[in-house]
Formats: sequence, structure tokens, C-alpha cells
Amino acid sequence: MCGIVGILGKKAVAGDLVDALRRLEYRGYDSAGVATVEDGHLDRRRAEGKLKNLEIRLSNHPLQGRTGLGHTRWATHGKPVERNAHPHMNERVAVVHNGIIENFQELRGELSAKGHVFQTETDTETVLHLVSDYLDQGVAPVDAARAALQRLQGAFALAVIFAGEDNLMIGARQGPPLAIGHGEGEMYLGSDAIALAPFTDTITYLEDGDCAVLTREAAEIFAFDGRKVERPAIKSVASSLLVDKGNFRHFMAKEIHEQPEVISHTLGSFIDFAEGRVHLPDLGLDPAEISKISISACGTAYYAGIVGKYWLERYARVPVEIDVASEFRYREPPLEKGGLSVFITQSGETADTLATLRYCKAQGQRIASIVNVRTSTIARESDVILPTLAGPEIGVASTKAFTCQLSVLACLAIALGRARGAISEAQEKELTHALAEVPRHVSTLLHNEATYERLAHDLSKARDVLYLGRGSSFPLALEGALKLKEISYIHAEGYAAGELKHGPIALIDENVPVIVVAPADELFEKTVSNMQEVAARGGKIILLSDAAAERAGCALEAHIPVPTVHPFVNPLLYAVPVQLIAYHTAVFLGTDVDQPRNLAKSVTVE
Ligand code: M6R
Repeated sequence: MCGIVGILGKKAVAGDLVDALRRLEYRGYDSAGVATVEDGHLDRRRAEGKLKNLEIRLSNHPLQGRTGLGHTRWATHGKPVERNAHPHMNERVAVVHNGIIENFQELRGELSAKGHVFQTETDTETVLHLVSDYLDQGVAPVDAARAALQRLQGAFALAVIFAGEDNLMIGARQGPPLAIGHGEGEMYLGSDAIALAPFTDTITYLEDGDCAVLTREAAEIFAFDGRKVERPAIKSVASSLLVDKGNFRHFMAKEIHEQPEVISHTLGSFIDFAEGRVHLPDLGLDPAEISKISISACGTAYYAGIVGKYWLERYARVPVEIDVASEFRYREPPLEKGGLSVFITQSGETADTLATLRYCKAQGQRIASIVNVRTSTIARESDVILPTLAGPEIGVASTKAFTCQLSVLACLAIALGRARGAISEAQEKELTHALAEVPRHVSTLLHNEATYERLAHDLSKARDVLYLGRGSSFPLALEGALKLKEISYIHAEGYAAGELKHGPIALIDENVPVIVVAPADELFEKTVSNMQEVAARGGKIILLSDAAAERAGCALEAHIPVPTVHPFVNPLLYAVPVQLIAYHTAVFLGTDVDQPRNLAKSVTVE
């Protein structure tokens, strides 16, 4: 979380810093700030809340320095108030940071004992005092920064500038991403290549343990202990175009409506529809030899992974273990050499997913990632990538990335199923044909928005909402609940329908809406029994199903019809109504749909 940028420019850099921060706002929007070196002195402007507040402050009180840092914050340590906003600065040093300094309390104690006075509750401020302490001892700026880096524990990307040093900037990476941008007589640092895209397409990605010493003319990279290291400069394909909302009120709405197109692109990149065959990139191992697949991801990507488990086990007959990355990494499960580990991520920067990838790699696993941002760290560290072609997803609530992840997982299940002899050529054709129909059906589902607006009116009054589903609809129930809570702030939980009577049924009364994801598949009748249990206790049922409302056998508050398709592709269709329910409820409640409170698009801290 947090976005950082640095510019050694030829003219005043504050405007370009803000421009770059706009591209990084997906990493956090609790506060923003810039600092520059002007006539040898450090000066800064900071503002609580979104970037526009900083812009107003800068237009009233401009900064003229040609060397500067910028930061957009997702608060970890300390409230999201201006006092805790970055850059942190004293007369000699300014610092921006993304990540967590784990030993900050110990360092703070040590530095306080030496007379340093702390102004904020942040972990970052310890870096400021640590570097200053070395400067006070007469250590030169580059060495002071390097000495400080050797004392830090945790995960961090850092950028540092110094008073009296108009042609020097330090960047360091231990965990979260950081890239150098090479300009013509200018030099840049940024959390990603997209932030730097308007300025340069020549990028060097720092690796963990790298410290970059930048001037306008050169970028030298060292290990924290001072050994020189070489990192290649590459041409980035990141686009500088800031995506706009088109005619939509929110990015989330636009992204929901883009799904027919992006699902179609993603499927088309793996499936030859004329032949009815799936073609995957070489996974680098024999599919018939795979004894187990382990899947790791977070949030919505994890729910896509659970659908993937149902598909892979059923259609490819391969055992799948799935866990949220934050648990997987610390469980340290034994993994057989030669196994396949699959990571699912939109951003490709999620800290827990990346750490799990590295764990699996160290265990000799083949690493395949289903990833949307191809320039991301996870994409670069994978043996093979299975790209989702969702395009930039700006809304913090993931929508089109989810259905594109499902599209790739469906292709993986079919391809492995064929290669392992678990499905026949005719079955492969049947399943790819079913997938080919998905974009058309998703389009149909998008033409029913008035229904969701009516539903939103009722749901907005609820304090708790339950989502139920069975089989591959269970992860859709989880995803529906996550979508609703993250953008409407209504408490919601997803359950496997069969689990209802093991506890959650105690919550049911006439004030608790229960949203049931129940395609008319082989499990439908089982779910009907659960709906009746809810109805018997006065619960209000909202049924998402292709089955006629009468088949529920009980009174429904609402029925959202979904087209009847091959059961294999149901999760791709049912994703749409759960997204629209959450979206319209949030709009009705007037929340900040695209940038909901406390969240960030890219979670680069654990
Ligand atoms: O970038 P990733 O796909 O790795 O992100 C994973 C989660 O942080 C993400 O899906 C999150 O749960 C979304 N806000 C859900 O809408």
C-alpha cells in the first residue's frame, strides 16, 4: 500500500509529482504529500484525504524545487491525519515510505534516548531520525542512508532526499516494488512503471535488498552492504493513459459493463473456438504427472481460486489445495518437488501472495500466475503467466478481474483435463462451446439494472445480509458478501448453504435478507431445503437462479432470473448479479464506491 514517487527534474517538479501520484492513488488515499529541495532547503506540502486536497494546497502555496518526492498514503501506523502524512521531514532529510518497518519501536526507543523528538505515530519517522542521526555523526548522505537501511527490518520501499543536495536521491527496496525511470537528463523513482509512464518508458526494477543512488545523469545500484549490483534497464509497455469513466458514474459500473468484452478477450487468448480446443502456454511440467496443485491468493482472487478448485478437481481430476496467501505462507506446508503452484492476482503486487510465491519457489514448485498487470513483481517472478486481459481495473472492488480470473481457471481446468485424459475431445468441445456463450449471457444480465435499484432500496436498510451457495456457487456467495461489505459497509457473510444449520441460522429473522445463489443444477433441490429453513424463520429470501420462482417452494422477497447455461460456466454468470446488488446498494447509500473507506487497490503490506 502507499504509492511513492521521486523526480530529479530540469524544472519545478511538484506538478509532475502530483500527476504521478494520481496514477498511484489506487495504492491508498488517506493523505498525500510532496517535498522538494528548493535553494538548498527542504519544504513540503501535505493534505489529509484525497489527492485533490493536496492539489488545492499546492495551488495556494506552490513549491519550486527541481528535486522532489511524493507520496499517497494508506495508513498502517498512526491515524490518517495530516500530521502522519508523508513525506516525513526535518531540516536535513525528507523520506517517503511504502511498507512496514517492523522494528520501529526498538529504533524509536534507541533514538529517543539519544534526544531525537518524534512528531508522528508512524513507523516511517524512525527512518528519518535514523538517517539524520548518521548525518549528525558526520556520515555523508549516501552512506548515512545505507547505514540506516542496514538497521531496518520489515518490508519497505523508500525514497530519500537531502537538504543541500539538489542532485541526489536514494531509493531502496525490501519487499514492496520500486522502479527507476531513466529520462534525458532527468531521473525518476516510482512504485510502478505506470506512475512514470508520462515521463519515460526506460525502466529498471529494483530487487529486494537494492539501494539505488540516483542523480540526473546516472543510476547506480548497490546491495545494502555497499556491493555494486547490476540490474537491466528495459522498455516498459505500461501505458500513460489514465483510464476514464466514459459515460458511467463510477469506474466500478464501467468495469462491470466491460465484462462481456474482457471475458471474451481473455477466453479468446486461450481457446481456438473453431476447433473447440484450449491452448495453454507451456507450463514446464507434464500435466499427467501433476500430483497436486496448490492455489494461493487474497480476497476476490482467492474466491476465484475456490471456483478453480471445484473445476480442476471435477474436470481435470487433480487434487487442489487452496488457502489465503496470508495463511499459506506461515503454515509452511510441505510441497512435493515438481508440483504446480498457482497464484491469482489482479495487481501482481499483493504482499502475501508474493511471499507465498517465493515460499513455493524455494520448495521447488513450478510457478504459474494468473495475473492482470503484466509488469508486476508476481508476473516477473513466475515461471509462466496466464494473463487475464481485463485491462486496468481502477475501482477498488474487483469485478472484471474476477470474471477474467474465472475465465483463465476454466481454460486451465479444461486443458489439464484433456492432457490428463480426464475429459474427452467431445467434452472439451462442449465445455469450450459453453464458455463461448458466456459474454452474450453476461451482456443480457447487464440489462436489468432497474431490478437492482429496487432491491438496493430494501437492502440498504439491513444491518446484516447472508449469502448462501452450494458447490461452485459457494465461492460466489463469499464474493457477494465481500462486495457488499466493502463498498456499502453493510455487514455481510457468505456461507456454504449446508452450513446454515450449523450456526448461522441463529441469525435469521425478518430483518435479515438472505441472498441465495442457486442455479438449477444437480444441487438445486438441496439448496431449496435450506431456503425453506430460512423462510420458516421469517428470513427474507432473494433468489438468484435460472429456476422458476415457484421451484423455491417458499415466498421470495425477490427473484433475479439468470440465463440457463451449461452448469460449468454458472460461476461466470452469477458473478454479475452479486456485483450489481453491491454496486446499487452502495450507490443508494451514497458511499464512495470506487474508493471505499480504509481500503486500497493494491495491498503491498502483510
Ligand atoms: O491484486 P490482487 O488480486 O492480488 O488483490 C487481492 C485482494 O486484495 C482484492 O481482490 C480485494 O479483496 C478486492 N478489494 C476485492 O474487491
